[in-house]
Amino acid sequence: MSPAGTGWAPPELPPGARLLVGPDEIQRTVDRLGQELRATYTDGELTLVVVLQGALVFAADLLRRLTLPVRLETVNARSYVGAARSPGALQLALADLGAIEGRHVLVVDDILDTGRTLAALLAALQLRRPASLRSIVLLDKPARRQVALRADFTGMTVPDAFVVGYGLDHDGLHRNLPCLAALAADEGAAAAPAREAPSRPGQPPQSQGAMGAGRRTNNRQPS
Ligand code: IMP
Ligand code: MG
Repeated sequence: MSPAGTGWAPPELPPGARLLVGPDEIQRTVDRLGQELRATYTDGELTLVVVLQGALVFAADLLRRLTLPVRLETVNARSYVGAARSPGALQLALADLGAIEGRHVLVVDDILDTGRTLAALLAALQLRRPASLRSIVLLDKPARRQVALRADFTGMTVPDAFVVGYGLDHDGLHRNLPCLAALAADEGAAAAPAREAPSRPGQPPQSQGAMGAGRRTNNRQPS
């Protein structure tokens, strides 16, 4: 995976983490998603609303697969847990979002977990009367869903696990891994109280992109 002759190597996996999806498979998945988007959006413009920070890497790759005129907007979404705020309170920062009324809007997120973030964001965006509103996620973790919701486009379905790399973080780190990795189960177990839903760390991998770990340890959850 190290680019030959360039004198550097990508970062190593965190201790105990397990490689789940390599860079080539990620790119094949993004290729396929690009195809699906090109087949869906055949004319006019498309506005991507990227959920920071986790979806940044995915969105950067995805938008270069699109041939339509594309606009790029970002939103911040965080769930706060612990003492500072009520458990799981979600904060959406939409103040800087450009006008989307009458536009075809595609929300881009890294992973659909409980579904609370995407559900709240779609509801807030719908109030701004876009011409159409769809969502795309690289990863879907249906085991932890609290809100009945599916993204319109999904890259890979994964079992309950805590995933880092390719933009996804744990405690703000590991976003620069070129692959997707499952954190070690003990990291996940330590992080379990930070979320409302009980975690089930350490599940074995099940399918393509399978992962096994738990939850993040920080009480402020970057997107
Ligand atoms: P939801 O509201 O529970 O669906 O939360 C989705 C957000 O939680 C994602 O956009 C990520 O920021 C974060 N998240 C959920 N699961 C993971 C994970 O396994 N790794 C990294 N971030 C995650
Ligand atoms: Mg996020």
